[in-house]
Parts: sequence; structure tokens; C-alpha cells
Amino acid sequence: MKIVPIDSSDLIESCVPLYVDVFNAAPWHDQWTHETVRRRLIDFFNTPGFVGYCTYSGSEVVGGVLGNIESFFKGDYFYLKEMFVSCKCQRQGVGNTLLKSLNNNLKERDVHSIILITDRSLFPCKFYHKNGFTVIDDMTLMHIDI
Ligand SMILES: CC(C)(COP(=O)(O)OP(=O)(O)OC[C@H]1O[C@@H](n2cnc3c(N)ncnc32)[C@H](O)[C@@H]1OP(=O)(O)O)[C@@H](O)C(=O)NCCC(=O)NCCS
Repeated sequence: MKIVPIDSSDLIESCVPLYVDVFNAAPWHDQWTHETVRRRLIDFFNTPGFVGYCTYSGSEVVGGVLGNIESFFKGDYFYLKEMFVSCKCQRQGVGNTLLKSLNNNLKERDVHSIILITDRSLFPCKFYHKNGFTVIDDMTLMHIDI
């Protein structure tokens, strides 16, 4: 498998069908369309501090991780916005390899912290635990419909 930095909107575009397939399947069962995914990923790509990697198996994109470096008084951190591995390639170490590439890139930029939001009851949470992430007990995700 080959890992490449996402450095063009063409590479973002190549992640769109994969993202739709992965997040419309278990465990998320979302209802993404190519257009809604495209808008989301292009927005991240166009935001300052974007960093992303995708993985190829042959000519097919089978995984991706992306997000943005954000400023903070304690030092910059990386907000991991999306991570996805094709259903047929899950549990084969692709996600772990993507995270390692991301970590190496971030350390070179003096970024030593990653945050993300996920569902504590679903298996991706286990993946992040396995890769050293911990839950911040005194923080909570809040929301209001307006
Ligand atoms: C979460 C995800 C990115 C992990 O990538 P991956 O390539 O499957 O992960 P790895 O092979 O590097 O690591 C495997 C570990 O992840 C967890 N995991 C991955 N798939 C799993 C599954 N279907 N069921 C249970 N645990 C799973 C387990 O802890 C597993 O370790 P184990 O096999 O020793 O039990 C990938 O499964 C995925 O894309 N899931 C759907 C999209 C998603 O949830 N993205 C994250 C949103 S926050």
C-alpha cells in the first residue's frame, strides 16, 4: 500500500466515493451523497492548517485521514476531522499506518496533540484507544437546535 499526502483537490475528489461507502455502511449508517461529502472535504482542504493523507491499494484509494492544525495557547494541536478505511480493508492495519504518517508530519511541525470527536459506543472508539487516545473526562460535546 502506498500513502500520499493529500495536496490537491483532485486527491480530495478521489476520497469522495470511498467516504460515502464507508460512512453510509455500519456502524454509522449515515446518508451522505457525493455532493454533501465533496462540500465537507473541500471545506476542510481549503481551511488553513490542512493536513491529510490517503492510502492506495494499486490505483484505488482505500483510506484517508484529514484535518486541520489549530492554534492554542499551550501550542498548536491537530483537529482530526475525518478518518476512513474502505470496508473491505478494515482491521488490516491501514488506519494505524495512516495515523503514523500523520503523527510524523505533525511532529515535524512541532504539533504534539491531536483531538477528535467520535461515538463512545462504536468500534472506531476502540481503534483510537488502541492507538493511545484517551477520553477527556471533564469535557463534553454540546449542541443546540436553533
Ligand atoms: C476506524 C477505522 C478508521 C480504523 O481503521 P482500520 O484500518 O480498520 O484499523 P486498524 O486495522 O489499524 O486497527 C484495527 C483495530 O481497530 C478496531 N477495529 C477496526 N475495525 C473494527 C471492527 N469492524 N470491529 C471492531 N473493532 C474494529 C479494533 O480495535 C482493531 O483492533 P483488533 O483487530 O486487534 O481488535 C476504520 O475501521 C473505519 O474507517 N471505520 C469506519 C469509519 C469510521 O468510523 N471512522 C472514524 C470516525 S471517528
